[in-house]
Amino acid sequence: MIVHHLASENSIIHKFINELRDQSIQKDAQRFRRNIERIGEILAYEISKTLDFSAKSLETPLATYHGKSIADAIVICSVLRAGLPLHNGLLNYFDDAENTFISAFRHQTNTENDFEIVVEYLASPSLEGKTLILADPMLATGQSMVAVLKALKAMGKPKKIHIASVIGATEGVEFIKKHFPEDTTLWIAAIDENLNEKGYIVPGLGDAGDLAFGSK
Ligand code: URA
Repeated sequence: MIVHHLASENSIIHKFINELRDQSIQKDAQRFRRNIERIGEILAYEISKTLDFSAKSLETPLATYHGKSIADAIVICSVLRAGLPLHNGLLNYFDDAENTFISAFRHQTNTENDFEIVVEYLASPSLEGKTLILADPMLATGQSMVAVLKALKAMGKPKKIHIASVIGATEGVEFIKKHFPEDTTLWIAAIDENLNEKGYIVPGLGDAGDLAFGSK
């Protein structure tokens, strides 16, 4: 797996990551969603550099212009509910993309903080031969991502898989490296060292779904 860790370089992405983590700013849910969306837009731009392009000619008011356009058939798949703002950001740039939605939640199996991932809902076009972008802002243990990959098998074999994420734990990144096809590319804004006993990324930002959509 190729891993692009965007915060390892200086760029505007640090401003958006800082605002997502900062308790005094993240309370503004609209700003929180917009910051995730902005990171989605940056990830889309980076991913776009790796896509296939074909020649495209069009007429300007003055002459024929010979340019190019994206040749890949893109499907953006987000994991409900925290994936929605990231999905929006990707869709702002890949505005012709098809869309897949899937639910995955942690079901605690005993009192020891053991849990299994339950996938309940899937709405997806065929993925056969397409470029699949999996959007999940928090790559904690990586188990949801792997459960999603398993559930999507029935929809056909994508030509290429990209994973778009905001914050990952080292453990989660290592887990998905083991379970995804080798030519998968991970695009992630920040990677944190730790996971706590409840499976939260530390320092992380808290619960992305609650911060984006939770009630006060
Ligand atoms: N999901 C979240 O929203 N936050 C984490 O830290 C881990 C998983």
